[in-house]
Amino acid sequence: MAMTYDDFKQLGMRLDMSRGKPAPEQLDLSRALLDEAGTVGYLSRDGIDCRNYGHVLGLPEAREFGATLLDVPAAQVVAAGNSSLELMHDMLAFAMLFGLPGGEAWRKRDDVAFLCPVPGYDRHFAICEALGIRMINVPMNHDGPDMDFVEAQMARDPAIKGIWCVPLYSNPSGAIYSDAVVRRLAAMPAAAPDFRLFWDDAYRFHHLTGQKHTTLDVLAACAAAGHEDRALVFASLSKVTLGGGAMAFLAGSRRNIDWWQQRVSVRTIGPDKLNQLRHVRFLRDRAGLERLMERHRELLSPKFAAIAAQFGEQLGGLEGVTWNEPAGGYFISLYTPPGFAKRTVALAAAAGLVLTPAGAAYPYGRDPQDRHLRIAPTFPSLEDVRVAAQGIALSLRRALELA
Ligand SMILES: Cc1ncc(COP(=O)(O)O)c(C=O)c1O
Repeated sequence: MAMTYDDFKQLGMRLDMSRGKPAPEQLDLSRALLDEAGTVGYLSRDGIDCRNYGHVLGLPEAREFGATLLDVPAAQVVAAGNSSLELMHDMLAFAMLFGLPGGEAWRKRDDVAFLCPVPGYDRHFAICEALGIRMINVPMNHDGPDMDFVEAQMARDPAIKGIWCVPLYSNPSGAIYSDAVVRRLAAMPAAAPDFRLFWDDAYRFHHLTGQKHTTLDVLAACAAAGHEDRALVFASLSKVTLGGGAMAFLAGSRRNIDWWQQRVSVRTIGPDKLNQLRHVRFLRDRAGLERLMERHRELLSPKFAAIAAQFGEQLGGLEGVTWNEPAGGYFISLYTPPGFAKRTVALAAAAGLVLTPAGAAYPYGRDPQDRHLRIAPTFPSLEDVRVAAQGIALSLRRALELA
């Protein structure tokens, strides 16, 4: 007989699936970063003593490595500390306090707004909320934000200073921005001269299938449209090597990078160059990184497949219930009929399964339709993912009074 929600509860599961963290097996792929840390030494290729202060924009070979990953000249890349989120936060904090190139300090305005494609990354929205930036929900399609909506907002609201974009394998919808969307974002008129695309390329190398998807080069698209300073590109190795112990990158126009150097020099004397050196020596080059990502894929794709299989079996054909099967990234979005997401999360919690709070992927934590669940299958073991997928499906079926 098929398992019921009450049977699932009886299992006494204790699992926290609330965040998209790498699993211990993934972290083990980068053991050499710890085990061989000392053997790398401290002298860079150019003879820089990485034990000491300096090089605020990063170790030259780390910047060059970032440049090969992001397909931009090294002079337009900053190799930074362990967190790209921190770079995004600082970018917005600097914009508030001092203004970006081409504009005045945002704090001088009564109203500063950001476009937020939804569902999106909760921590992007948390930065805006912390800084008092008004957030405008933008509907998301499979090929990026709804550009008719974006352009209409841009035309009527001069307070809009930026938009959050996760162009490849979006968190959490899995969307892949089409070339047409990227070109429209690059070219659209903006009332604010300092309007920016906050281009968070967090999942640039995080494929789940054999097809390595890419998106259009946004810096080139912006330059071609006469908006050279519009895109600020962020990238991270947190889910390539060590979550929270890796290296982040910022790329932009020379003007933006020069401005960043001025601002960030007040904040720090330089990044952890020893860690940058270790990363460059360990990963070696883009091909080395891509080989490592293949091994991540071998660990991750069965977990995503397990969720898809369970959902297909238990939720297939239910009216108003849909989910995506992403080609990369860290998340699956599950949609319930309107009004059932919170209840599903509560039922899962009552059975010992902690999911991301319903609404988390929306500004202010408010999903207007209470429909969206963010599923994060990466951290638990494959066996736990299988059981959890069943638990999620049964919790939703119980919420709908079907189980
Ligand atoms: C879209 C996105 N950007 C940034 C981050 C965090 O990156 P970092 O570890 O470099 O701060 C995450 C982590 O989940 C993410 O999903």
